[in-house]
Amino acid sequence: MIETKGLRKSYPSGKRGRTVVDAVRGIDLDVRAREIFGFLGPNGAGKTTTLRMLATLIRPDGGEARIAGADLLADPAGVRRRIGYVAQGGGTTDAVTAREELVLQARMYGTGKAEALRQAEDALKAFDLTEFADRPCRTYSGGQRRRVDIALGVIHTPQVLFLDEPTVGLDPVGRSQVWAEIQRLRTEGMTVVVTTHYLEEADALCDRVAIVDHGQVVAEGTPEALKREISGDVVLLGIAAGENEPAADALRDQPWLLRLEQQGEDGLRVYVHDGAAAIPQLLRILDGARIVPRTVQLQRPSLDDVFLARTGRSIEQS
Ligand SMILES: Nc1ncnc2c1ncn2[C@@H]1O[C@H](COP(=O)(O)OP(=O)(O)OP(=O)(O)O)[C@@H](O)[C@H]1O
Ligand SMILES: [Mg+2]
Repeated sequence: MIETKGLRKSYPSGKRGRTVVDAVRGIDLDVRAREIFGFLGPNGAGKTTTLRMLATLIRPDGGEARIAGADLLADPAGVRRRIGYVAQGGGTTDAVTAREELVLQARMYGTGKAEALRQAEDALKAFDLTEFADRPCRTYSGGQRRRVDIALGVIHTPQVLFLDEPTVGLDPVGRSQVWAEIQRLRTEGMTVVVTTHYLEEADALCDRVAIVDHGQVVAEGTPEALKREISGDVVLLGIAAGENEPAADALRDQPWLLRLEQQGEDGLRVYVHDGAAAIPQLLRILDGARIVPRTVQLQRPSLDDVFLARTGRSIEQS
């Protein structure tokens, strides 16, 4: 449904734009039809820039892409007809009601007035917005407003929907409502590309993900497959500030240790084959070094561990 090769974009930067930021440095993606595809990465990784290129809002400096059969560079109007795009932060106006926004959006796609009213009514029902459809958007909760944003993005029934950080800033209820809408759209046949910082949400709800860093894809696949590459478990040790170094030194040479990462100032992530078996040994070794951990947690690897393994940094700590 989406295929990109070597997509690139640089922005002028610095005083008088003399230097450049290479925001996207050659991105290859392959998104299948009816997939929920997660586009993950830390701040400034190039997610929004990539989405804006695919949505024809900015022109790539290089590379190519086909979206639902239309060529991004040769046929941007064709791409625009086939896609919906919901920007980071959304696009509703405080004083306007959801119904008015939807009618306006439908009319922008050239729909006649009566038909636009009907489409708006359908969208209000589908997204469960009827109850407050005639109140101004500023009175909505964060989750309600995001649902209006998504409804606006799909009023013309596109084949592909791009959502930039649709759940950012929402409470857990709002977030699960937004994901429920995303899943509903997929069952109706839409392909959804979604960016998020919330790796646990992406893990649970995306069919496949691409993890980007500094404008390049560092990992791609199903969450399960990516996590499987990180063999074993993670033991998360909470340690008094200042004792990270001595604890790491004590553990470093153990044969069963796969990898060791600092977690902030007062924590260590210890990667081992069998976490339950390693914990008693860990405690014994730390005890020998006169270190008593404050907390010990056994975790399965997360998508953040995948990122950590590929880049040496954490998305969630950034
Ligand atoms: N219009 C612009 N002019 C100059 N630099 C820009 C512009 N837009 C983005 N950048 C830079 O390009 C890089 C990628 O930005 P982008 O917004 O694509 O990242 P992102 O992955 O969406 O980040 P976030 O998670 O914070 O939304 C950043 O270094 C950013 O500062
Ligand atoms: Mg962004």
